[in-house]
Amino acid sequence: PIRQIKTRIKTPKSIFQKLTRNGCEVSLESAKKELNDIAGVRVICSYIDDIYALADLLAKQDDIELLRTRDYIKSPKPNGYRSLHLVVTVPVFLSKCTENVKVEIQIRTIAMDFWASLEHELAYKYTGGIPQSATKELRECAETIAQTDARMQNLRKAVAASSEKE
Ligand code: GTP
Ligand code: MG
Repeated sequence: PIRQIKTRIKTPKSIFQKLTRNGCEVSLESAKKELNDIAGVRVICSYIDDIYALADLLAKQDDIELLRTRDYIKSPKPNGYRSLHLVVTVPVFLSKCTENVKVEIQIRTIAMDFWASLEHELAYKYTGGIPQSATKELRECAETIAQTDARMQNLRKAVAASSEKE
């Protein structure tokens, strides 16, 4: 059910900026404690159901501990953003010890990713924030996309049910 996996490590500069912005101490310990997204993974799925199936599979893994779930699919952000966000810890085996490292995992459909990447690009272009008129348009696009995702999900179910009968 996975179409694509993207990974990224936050740069030292952006770690510094986020700690400063959040009023946190700037140190290695503080970064490890305060930031969930130094390591980030984005998983793109075909269908909405795949997102939840994948999240369940991840949470069941013995070595992965689920710290936080934010379901922006059931509760989209006001701008229309949709994705399932998990914060987990993964053991990293070092020569002297094992360290549990936090990873932010964003799971979304192809359609949600399409919206999020363009919205992100637009947000970058307008330094003073996306203008009001465009905000409404973007939210409506997100809703259209969500409806299409739901229709594609139903389509898959219908096709699966009819092929079972054959
Ligand atoms: P941050 O301090 O921004 O990391 O917020 P948070 O810890 O409350 O995390 P949140 O669950 O809001 O997710 C943050 C990440 O999700 C961002 O770094 C983006 O990758 C993504 N994200 C969240 N909201 C939006 C949005 O409105 N548009 C886009 N394009 N991406 C978003
Ligand atoms: Mg973030």
